[in-house]
Amino acid sequence: MEVIIKSDKAEASKLGAKIIARLIRQNNKAVLGLATGSTPLQLYKQLVRMHQEEGLSFKDVTTFNLDEYVGLESDNPCSFYSEMHNNLFCHIDMAKGATHLPDGMAENIPDSCAAYEAAIAAAGGIDLQLLGIGHDGHLAFNEPGSSLASRTRLKTLSQKTIKANSRFFGSEDKVPRHVMTMGLSTIMAARQCILLAFGMDKAEAVRDMIEGPVSASCPGSILQFHERTIVLLDPEAASKLRRKQYYLDVYASKPAWQLWD
Ligand code: F6R
Repeated sequence: MEVIIKSDKAEASKLGAKIIARLIRQNNKAVLGLATGSTPLQLYKQLVRMHQEEGLSFKDVTTFNLDEYVGLESDNPCSFYSEMHNNLFCHIDMAKGATHLPDGMAENIPDSCAAYEAAIAAAGGIDLQLLGIGHDGHLAFNEPGSSLASRTRLKTLSQKTIKANSRFFGSEDKVPRHVMTMGLSTIMAARQCILLAFGMDKAEAVRDMIEGPVSASCPGSILQFHERTIVLLDPEAASKLRRKQYYLDVYASKPAWQLWD
C-alpha cells in the first residue's frame, strides 16, 4: 500500500481526482469502480471541475458502483443511484448505459449479482476502484466477518453501519437492512485501488486496515495483499498510524517520476 497523508481532505481529494484524470487521459475507455457516501464527494466535485474547465471527457468511460440498497427504487433520493446521478453523472458527459450499479430492486438477487459480475468481466475488468472505509473497517458493504473471497452478493448491514448511514435517511429504522455489494474478491481484482479516508472517526479503522493483521474482522485489511493500492488520508485519519512519520518521509523523498502530483 502506498500511504499518502495530505495537509487536509481537500488536498487529498484533489490528488485522488488527478490520479483518476491521468488514467482517463491515458486510456479514454477506462473502467472505473466508484463509491458513494460522504468521503468521495470532494473528489467528484474536482472531476466535474476538470470536465468543465480542463476538457476531461468521460464519454468513453464505463463505471461500476460498489453497492446499492435493496428495496429502494433508483429514483429514491437515498438510493446510491440518485447519489451518483446528483453528485457526478448528471454533471459530466458519460454515455447512456455506461454507468452501472447493482439493481437493488431485482426480483432474483443471486442472478442479478452474478450478472453484475459478468458485466464487469465483459467490460474488461475494473482499471481503478475508488473506495472509502467504514468505521468498522468495512469495504463497500463487506461488513466485518465477510469472506475475503467474496463476490457480488446480498449482505445485511451491521448495527454500526445502520447508525452511521441513518444521517442520510433521517432515522435508523428507515435504513434498509440489506444491500447488494461487490465482494472483497471483486474489489481485489481491480487493477488499481484508491482508498480515501478523512477525519478522526476513521483513524482506528485506517490503522487496522494498514497496520493490523489481514483479517475478515477488518475487511479493509485485505488491501494489504493488493499490488497497487493508494491510501489518501488527512492528518486526522492518519493520526493513529504507528509508521505515520515513515509514510510522510517516503512521500517527501519520492523521485519526481514517482510523484502523482
Ligand atoms: C459506499 C461504500 C461504503 C463507504 C463507507 C464510508 O459505496 O461502499 O463502504 O465507503 O461506508 O462511508 P462515508 O464515506 O459516508 O464515511
